Amino acid sequence: MIRMYDLIEKKKHGGDLSEEEIHAMITGYVAGDIPDYQMSAMLMAIYFRGMSAQETTYLTMEMAHSGDTADLSGIQGIKVDKHSTGGVGDKTSLVIGPIAASLGVKIAKMSGRGLGHTGGTLDKLESIPGLSTSIDKDRFFEIVNETGIAIIGQTGNMVPADKKLYALRDVTATVDSVPLIASSIMSKKLAAGSDAIVLDVKTGSGAFMKTLEDSIALAKEMVAIGNGAGRRCCALITDMDVPLGRAVGNAMEVTEAVQTLRGQGPADLTEVCLQLASNMLFMAERGTIGECRAMAERAMADGSAVKVLADMVKAQGGDPDYIYDTDRFAQAPVKREVQATADGYITHIDTEGCGIAAAMLGAGRIKKEDAIDYSAGIYLHKKYGDAVKKGDVLAVLYTSDEGRLAAAEEKFLSSYTIGDAPAAEKRLVYARVTADGVERF
Ligand code: URA
Repeated sequence: MIRMYDLIEKKKHGGDLSEEEIHAMITGYVAGDIPDYQMSAMLMAIYFRGMSAQETTYLTMEMAHSGDTADLSGIQGIKVDKHSTGGVGDKTSLVIGPIAASLGVKIAKMSGRGLGHTGGTLDKLESIPGLSTSIDKDRFFEIVNETGIAIIGQTGNMVPADKKLYALRDVTATVDSVPLIASSIMSKKLAAGSDAIVLDVKTGSGAFMKTLEDSIALAKEMVAIGNGAGRRCCALITDMDVPLGRAVGNAMEVTEAVQTLRGQGPADLTEVCLQLASNMLFMAERGTIGECRAMAERAMADGSAVKVLADMVKAQGGDPDYIYDTDRFAQAPVKREVQATADGYITHIDTEGCGIAAAMLGAGRIKKEDAIDYSAGIYLHKKYGDAVKKGDVLAVLYTSDEGRLAAAEEKFLSSYTIGDAPAAEKRLVYARVTADGVERF
C-alpha cells in the first residue's frame, strides 16, 4: 500500500514520484483520505524540489480526470481556448474571445474568479446586470453554436483536485511553482475539451512568475503537456510588470474591453489582444499569423467583434445595452485622486501592489467569502515611463466604501517608484513558445 508519509519523504529528498504514486496521492486527497496537513507538506516539498516533466504530466492528467470532463462534440467547428496565468488589468479574454468568435472560431470557455491580487473574467462579466456565468451544459452549447462564444464558470464536478489544491496552495505560499501552476492550468484546459489552446503566460512584478526565464520554463512545460495530450497548443509570454491597460476593477475593465473592441482602447492592451487573437485564429487554421492579425483588426474596425460580445451578454441573460453604451455602468460614489509626490519619471510599478490596492477598494476579495464591489477599482492616468510633476494625478481610486480609501491609497502610492532618469523601454510580448521551440522577440 502507498503511504502519503513515504511520498512526502521521497519528494523531500528530490525523488521522482511514479504514475501510480501520483494516482494514489490525488485520488486519496480528493476522496478526503489524505488530510490537508500532509498535502501541504507535499506541496512545499514540490515547491522546493520541483518535478520532472514526466511527473508534471502524470500530475496534470490525474487532476484532469479527477472529476467530470467536457465533451464539446456537440459544438460545430474548431474550438479554441485561451488561458492567462493571471494579472492586473488583464481583460484580454473579453476582447479576443469575441474577435475570434466573430471570425468563426468557437469559444466554449470556462473561466475563473479573481485570485489574490489578480482579477478574474467571471467577476468582470458579472458586473453586467443580469448576466449569469452559471449555465447548464445544453444552454452553454446552444449559446456557443448560436453566437460563437460563451464564458461560464467551471460546471459541476470538473477538476475537483484543482479546486482543493488551489485553495490549499493559496494559504500555504505554494502558488508560484512551475509544476503546480502548469498542472493546475493544464488540467482545467484539458478537462474543458477544446481542440486548441493559446496560453498567455504573464511575466513581471504583477505575475506569479516574476522573471522571464521562469515564465518561459512554465510556458514550455504547459505547451508540452498540451501537445502530449493531443491538443494544439502555443504560448505568448506577455508583460505583467505594468498593469495591462489603464482600468483595474471589474465594470471599469468591461468598459475598457469594449473600447478596445471598438479600436479605441489603450495601445498596450490593443497590441497584446491583437497578438493573442492572431494566435487563436492561427491555431484554428485561418491563415498565417500576419493574415490572422489583419482579420482581427478588421473585426475590430467593422464592429463585428463588439456585436458578438453584446450577443453573448444577451444570451447569458445580461443587458447588452451596457456594451453598446458603457456609460450605463454605475460609477462608484466615492473617488480620490492620487497625486505624484515628486517630479521625475515612473521607473517601476509594483503591479502586484497595485492589484492589492484595487482589491482593498472592493474590486477583489481579501477573504474568500467577500462580496465584490463591481464599481470599485483604479484608473491609471500615469504608467511606467511617463514623466510626472509633483501634484500630477497618477490615478483615480474608486470605491463604494469611504472607509477603504486611506489604506488603499497608501498601498497604491507605495507601488509607484518615481526616479530622476527616464525608464528603460519595455516589451509587451517577449516570446512565443510552440512545440518547435522558443521564438524570442
Ligand atoms: N491560474 C490557475 O488556474 N492556476 C494557477 O496555479 C495559477 C494561475
